[in-house]
Amino acid sequence: MSRIDAEQEGGADVVTAPQPGLTPSNVTTIAEAGLRARLAPDDGRRPPQGWKGEGEQVTRKGAVSPTAMNKIDYRTQTTLITGASAGLGAEFARLLAERGSDLVLVARRADRLEALADELSAKYRVTVTAVPFDLTVPAAGEALAKEVARRGITVTSLVNNAGFGTHAPFRQEDAERVQQEIGLNVASLVDVTRAFIGQLTGFLVNVASSLGYQPWPNAAVYGATKAFVLSFTEALWQESRGTGLRVLALSPGPTRTEFFDALGSDDMARGVRMQTPRQVVTTALRTLDRRNPPPSVVSGTFNWVTTLTSRFTTRRANVLAFGALTQWQMRSSGPGH
Ligand SMILES: NC(=O)c1ccc[n+]([C@@H]2O[C@H](COP(=O)([O-])OP(=O)(O)OC[C@H]3O[C@@H](n4cnc5c(N)ncnc54)[C@H](OP(=O)(O)O)[C@@H]3O)[C@@H](O)[C@H]2O)c1
Repeated sequence: MSRIDAEQEGGADVVTAPQPGLTPSNVTTIAEAGLRARLAPDDGRRPPQGWKGEGEQVTRKGAVSPTAMNKIDYRTQTTLITGASAGLGAEFARLLAERGSDLVLVARRADRLEALADELSAKYRVTVTAVPFDLTVPAAGEALAKEVARRGITVTSLVNNAGFGTHAPFRQEDAERVQQEIGLNVASLVDVTRAFIGQLTGFLVNVASSLGYQPWPNAAVYGATKAFVLSFTEALWQESRGTGLRVLALSPGPTRTEFFDALGSDDMARGVRMQTPRQVVTTALRTLDRRNPPPSVVSGTFNWVTTLTSRFTTRRANVLAFGALTQWQMRSSGPGH
């Protein structure tokens, strides 16, 4: 029987994944199911339309069949989090420890990782291992996997969160810094995913960005790295259907972390209400807990709305609009920009 998945991401997106054996009437049903999801967005609290119960494949006339997934038992998971020494990574660590997951914390600053490991293992009685590691080294994935295996740990879930941004007209960007940015945000994320995906049974979260949904002048490289993460992760989501592994691209908008210290300014957040790391990570975990999670989610209604503009405008109008926005953001931050 043909199956479709008509899902909504971040409150509105629809993904239809036709399976082999489609007939013209099934194609119509797919379109209808997509429309239903679009018109009646699932806010994560209601089960999908037609849902009957855990583990039950629901079939509707013509073949709507959301794939049931068992609830994640975090107490059975060992989650490796990259970029866990600050911001979103540290918040993932707190909220996952609270749910009972053992943790492997990865970043460069050993002192921070160890302090967090001590705090969380004492508070939540989970095993937390700090692994200081620079993810920009060549073949980072294999080296990290070896280091984790050497400590006798089997990782079952992964949060690829480490990343940083650069913000300037491209001609003024530092060539070496831009290579590091691509190296961390893209190359190491792919490499770490490749090294661990075969052993993952729980979830894989890759942290993208609301900037990944459209070109972002004056942060052209950063936006493109996040577009890569979004595309890559959504493709893995499809490839992982039926394996039991949940795959999610998380796209935060501006969030109060050390990200803007590394960036050297908070221009990119000008005119926008920042979210807290807790809000962002809670969005991710709520989405993962859904029975039929979407491939991606944008955190925050305002951020989600900005990601929609590219669907309703031409590519030219869209990039001109975001160019004007970023120029205004840089101008209004005063002299020096
Ligand atoms: N904050 C925002 O507004 C925002 C918005 C959208 C998306 N994001 C994305 O969210 C993710 C987390 O960022 P954040 O906001 O939490 O920023 P953050 O507070 O600056 O944290 C970044 C983390 O990445 C780690 N890291 C940086 N370079 C590394 C390297 N070479 N090897 C290993 N770890 C490294 C840092 O640890 P060490 O320095 O100790 O290595 C730190 O733990 C990033 O992918 C970012 O692009 C952030």
